[in-house]
Amino acid sequence: MKYKHVLITGGAGFIGSHLTDHLIENGYKVRILDNLNPQIHPSGKPPVYLNKKAEFIKGNVINRDDLVKALEKIDVVFHLAAAVGVGQSMYQIEHYVRDNCLGTAILLDILANERHTVKKMLVAASMSSFGEGMYNCPKCGSVQQPDLRNGADFKKGIWEPLCLLCKMQLTPIPTDETARLQSPSVYAITKRTQEELLISIGKAYRIPAVSLRFFNAFGSRQSLSNPYNGVAAIFLSRVKNGKNPILNEDGLQTRDFVHIKDLVKVCQLTMESDSANNEIFNVGSGKPTTIREVAKTVLDLCKSREKLEITGKFRTFDVRHCFADVTKLKRLVGWMPSISFKQGMNDVFEWSKNETATDKVDDAMKELETRGLR
Ligand code: UD1
Repeated sequence: MKYKHVLITGGAGFIGSHLTDHLIENGYKVRILDNLNPQIHPSGKPPVYLNKKAEFIKGNVINRDDLVKALEKIDVVFHLAAAVGVGQSMYQIEHYVRDNCLGTAILLDILANERHTVKKMLVAASMSSFGEGMYNCPKCGSVQQPDLRNGADFKKGIWEPLCLLCKMQLTPIPTDETARLQSPSVYAITKRTQEELLISIGKAYRIPAVSLRFFNAFGSRQSLSNPYNGVAAIFLSRVKNGKNPILNEDGLQTRDFVHIKDLVKVCQLTMESDSANNEIFNVGSGKPTTIREVAKTVLDLCKSREKLEITGKFRTFDVRHCFADVTKLKRLVGWMPSISFKQGMNDVFEWSKNETATDKVDDAMKELETRGLR
C-alpha cells in the first residue's frame, strides 16, 4: 500500500461518509474534517452513520488552524468539503465563494508554505462547470456544445438546444473532459476554480493532483430533508410525504446519475494509480436518464399513485442534457460503471424506509421564484 493516512474534508457528508467507509474497508486510516453544516446535519452532531473507525475533527476548511491540525501526518487529501447547490449559490454568493474557493486556497497555501507529508490530493469538481454537454446535429452532422438556452425559445415550447448552423433540434452525445467549461452558475464557477487551483499548485509543488468531475451522484445518506439536494432525493422526500414530484421544463431533460458505490471506487482507483496524476476525469454512469424516469421510478418504488406535476418552468442556468464519456477513466485506471439508475434507486429506497423525510421543496422553489430564478 503506497499511502496509509487519508484526510477527507467534508467526510461527514453524503459522498465523504461513503468514501470513508470504502477506504477503511480497504485498509486505509481515515481522518475527517467537517463543520457539520446545519443544512445537512440539522442536529449539529456527527451523523449516526459516521464510521467509528474514522478520526473525526469538527472544523472548517476556511479556518487555517483547523486545516493545519487535520493535515498532520496525512499522505492523501480528498477535498470534498463544499457548499453544494446550484440554485442556492445564485443568492448566497459570498458563502459559496468563501467556502469553496477560499477553503481550497487555504488548503493549498498550507501545502505551499508549511512543512507537510501530503503526497497526493484529489478534489470533487463538478459536471455543472460544463454548462450544456456535447451534441450533434442529425441534419448537418456538426458536433457542437451549445450555449445555455434562451428564454425566448421556451415561450414557443422549445426546450431542446438548436443547431447553430441549421436550427435543427440537436441530439445529445457523451461529453468528454475536453469540452469547454461555460461555468454558468456561481456553484459551477467555484467548482471550476477549485479544480484549477488544485492542478496548478499540484504541478508547481510536485504534489500529484486529480480532479474528479462528478456527475449527478446519488445513493443512501443523501439528505431527504435538504430541499437544495439532488432531484432523486427531492422526489423521494416528496413522495414519502404523500406529495407529487414537481418537474421543471417538460421533464425530458436528462442527467447522468452515478451511484455512490461506483463513485467511491473511482476515488480509490484514481488515488492509487499514478496514471491519474495531474489528470481531470468525468465521473458518471455514461448513461442519460430523463427527470420523468426519475419521478416514475420513485413513484413505482413507493407504490404511489401521485401524478407527475409538469410545470413548464425553467430553473435559471439549468442545462438540458449532459452525460459523461467515461472512456478516460476506463483507459487510465480501468474503471467501468456497474450500477444502473434503477438498481441504485432500489438501494436508496431500501435505505429510506427507516429515514424521516421533511419536505421543504415548496419553500425552496418559492425562494427561487421570488428572485426570478425559476
Ligand atoms: C447536481 C448537483 C450539483 C452537482 C451536479 C453534478 C444539487 C442541487 N446539484 O446539479 O451539486 O455538482 O449535480 O453532479 O445537488 N428538478 C426538477 N424538480 C425538482 C428538482 C430538480 O425538475 O424538484 C430538475 C432540475 O430542474 C434539473 C434536474 O432536475 O433539470 C436536475 O437537477 P438537480 O438534481 O438539482 O441537479 P443539477 O442541477 O444537475
